Amino acid sequence: MRRVRSSAALRSLVRETRLAPEQFILPLFVCPGEGVRREIGSMPGNFQLSVDELVKECEQAKKLGIGGVILFGIPEVKDEMASGAYAESGIVQRALHAIKSAVRDLSAITDVCNCEYTSHGHCGYVVNNDVDNDTTLDWLAKSAVSHARAGADVVAPSDMMDGRVAAIRKALDANGFTNTPILSYAAKYASAFYGPFREAAQSAPQFGDRRSYQMDPANRREAMREIELDVEEGADMIMVKPAMPYLDIIRMARDRFDLPLGAYQVSGEFSMLEAAIRNGWLDRNRAILESLTSIRRAGADFILTYFAREAAQLL
Ligand code: PBG
Repeated sequence: MRRVRSSAALRSLVRETRLAPEQFILPLFVCPGEGVRREIGSMPGNFQLSVDELVKECEQAKKLGIGGVILFGIPEVKDEMASGAYAESGIVQRALHAIKSAVRDLSAITDVCNCEYTSHGHCGYVVNNDVDNDTTLDWLAKSAVSHARAGADVVAPSDMMDGRVAAIRKALDANGFTNTPILSYAAKYASAFYGPFREAAQSAPQFGDRRSYQMDPANRREAMREIELDVEEGADMIMVKPAMPYLDIIRMARDRFDLPLGAYQVSGEFSMLEAAIRNGWLDRNRAILESLTSIRRAGADFILTYFAREAAQLL
């Protein structure tokens, strides 16, 4: 076995899995104001950005050859009805207008969810301490349409309500956005690894948790059912989230479905690596690239990752 490992050139020749910048999607957080660049404590090197700063970040992402960005919004005000999520002048909608007029040929994906916009931090309309599925579908459909209208290239529902892909597809089509694809967070687990994101997006639930809508980390077959439903409902691309603790799910999804498959290396995965790297316990460049390689090797076509910029530079 060692013969083909004897030189860098031979190792490269027989390498089975490759990374390229266009396979990465960079998550970005947009907030109100001007000239705002507020570093997120638990995610060093990541910022809450006002629209003007966000545009600069997108220009840089484009220069690095990154495949796209996914936007998360931090609204001026949060309320019980998540009105900031689907307002035509909402923060993400304003960001899209700005990006689309300033940066050409960069895919702008939007996260479609309500948790950043509700006062209680849950992903939808709360009745009797639980999220009401079908009212929430209306909000999601309205949000997706408003994103498409503002210029989103792809909408990505991450709420885990039942029937959301069908509801969004129907609303997009009815409003003339028949060409806007849906990237579904099809198998999304109720994970502890979202902790840092909830600081970044100020979206931690004020009571309870998300286990009545996000998946139980113990379940594998259920993930296939989730994906199957989203495919039937019209998803154009599917995603597994988180990534590294769920490589088996990525592989199983790859073997069963022929749709483009993404994986989200979430905030906690980033922070965990970043913390160990900063402590000098892991080699920065190798740890970043190895983590991304493992996700691609498991079967993901593209990866949402907070390391997108750095990994692109390394490649
Ligand atoms: C919104 C959403 C979350 C993430 C992406 N979309 C948070 C959550 O479900 O609590 C997490 C991403 C990350 O941790 O990087 N629902």
